[in-house]
Amino acid sequence: MIIDVTVNGVQRHLKSRSGDRLVDMLRKELRLSSLNADCLQGRCGKCLVFMDGRIVHSCLIPAFKARGGTILTFEEIAKNPEVNDIEKAFHATHTQPCPFCHTAKTMVIFDLLSRVPLPSEEDIVEALDMVSCPCGDPIGLIQTVKLAAELRNKRKFNREA
Ligand code: FES
Ligand code: FES
Repeated sequence: MIIDVTVNGVQRHLKSRSGDRLVDMLRKELRLSSLNADCLQGRCGKCLVFMDGRIVHSCLIPAFKARGGTILTFEEIAKNPEVNDIEKAFHATHTQPCPFCHTAKTMVIFDLLSRVPLPSEEDIVEALDMVSCPCGDPIGLIQTVKLAAELRNKRKFNREA
């Protein structure tokens, strides 16, 4: 079947086979390198996309559910200055993730700060729960997100977090 969907601002007509997940269709049809189908259980976060403005594990979404919708992948999200804030915060707090979860963590932090400009520790832990990370520093990461929020708020609103 053909799925009409807007991906990263471009209207697409993508082929999907019965049983395809959203991640399968996006990878097969568009070869988006930010996406991986790894655990297929909503744990690793390697398939995170924004679907109609909400961050989702695309391995848990049947491809047909995207019909008529809007998808943003990391390829598009990476163009935002907020991603630079997050990178600076990773660096400053020495919590640069390994390649396994770097993109996924950036996506969930980007999402969190878009929704909650001054997140609590509880907000941060809840958001990061979308990405299973066997080798990161969970305490350091809370500082990372707080610093990313501070950098973002200074840049956007010229105010301290
Ligand atoms: S492949 Fe979707 S969360 Fe791991
Ligand atoms: S930092 Fe290695 S899996 Fe997250």
